[in-house]
Amino acid sequence: MNDTPSVRSSANPAAGALLAGQMAIVTGASRGIGRAIALSLARAGAAVALAARSAGALERLANDIEAQGGRAVAIPTDLTRDSDLPALVETVVTELGGLSILVNNAGMGVYGAVEHTTNAQWDAIMTVNARAPFILCREAIPHLRASGRGTIVNLSSVVGVKGYINQGAYTASKHALMGLSKVLAQEVQADGIRVHTICPGAVDTDMATQARPDLDRACVIRPAEIAEIVLFLLTHRGNAVIDDVHVRRASGAPWF
Ligand SMILES: NC(=O)c1ccc[n+]([C@@H]2O[C@H](COP(=O)([O-])OP(=O)(O)OC[C@H]3O[C@@H](n4cnc5c(N)ncnc54)[C@H](OP(=O)(O)O)[C@@H]3O)[C@@H](O)[C@H]2O)c1
Repeated sequence: MNDTPSVRSSANPAAGALLAGQMAIVTGASRGIGRAIALSLARAGAAVALAARSAGALERLANDIEAQGGRAVAIPTDLTRDSDLPALVETVVTELGGLSILVNNAGMGVYGAVEHTTNAQWDAIMTVNARAPFILCREAIPHLRASGRGTIVNLSSVVGVKGYINQGAYTASKHALMGLSKVLAQEVQADGIRVHTICPGAVDTDMATQARPDLDRACVIRPAEIAEIVLFLLTHRGNAVIDDVHVRRASGAPWF
């Protein structure tokens, strides 16, 4: 990790709230969907570890969460650095007293035909979108198991189940994440750990602006809508389990 973590806490964060007593990691919390998820989890009473490279943005978000009476710890993390990943989990367990929720949200895009995709681009996207979630899941499992109600939410994409031209490397990375999630969900089921994937179409973030500049921003999914789905997955504890959630724009075509 780049810096010493900075813990922000209120005297009695959201007592009685839906996620009171829970401790979460949200990767990619510096902006976009991850920021919305972190805010949502904190408002629901979880203590939230904010992970991304942009230390300043994480600090500002921690301040926002603190101002709203929540608890957050900003942990600057580079998902391409192997040593950052177990360190992130251990720091969270030490600072927050355990770990019950892991949201593997951070991601990056590479756009262009397969013919023009470089080895370096392939390696970078597979590292951030598939390898880092794998390592974080592996490191988190003992702590999620110990929590008695662990949940992993992996942010995949519509291209986790489909394929779009000029998104070959991105599509492969999200298919890899889907495959990992399918196996992991079965391996940790007996431990009471639930593994979900969310597969959105275009969401109104920097990534969508880069990938789909053609789309009308007024009709793309809002980050807060994805955060609502994450909150539902985390709070639903009935006999039914939702494995994958496929989310499309109201104006987009169904794919089934
Ligand atoms: N937006 C969409 O249309 C859409 C659709 C389907 C799925 N998704 C998925 O949803 C997730 C969030 O996407 P988004 O749209 O919110 O993207 P975004 O706005 O571009 O944000 C990406 C986040 O990932 C973090 N990140 C990237 N590389 C990192 C690294 N090496 N180490 C640590 N953190 C890193 C960034 O933080 P720093 O730059 O501060 O490190 C940032 O917080 C991604 O997995 C994406 O694939 C997005």
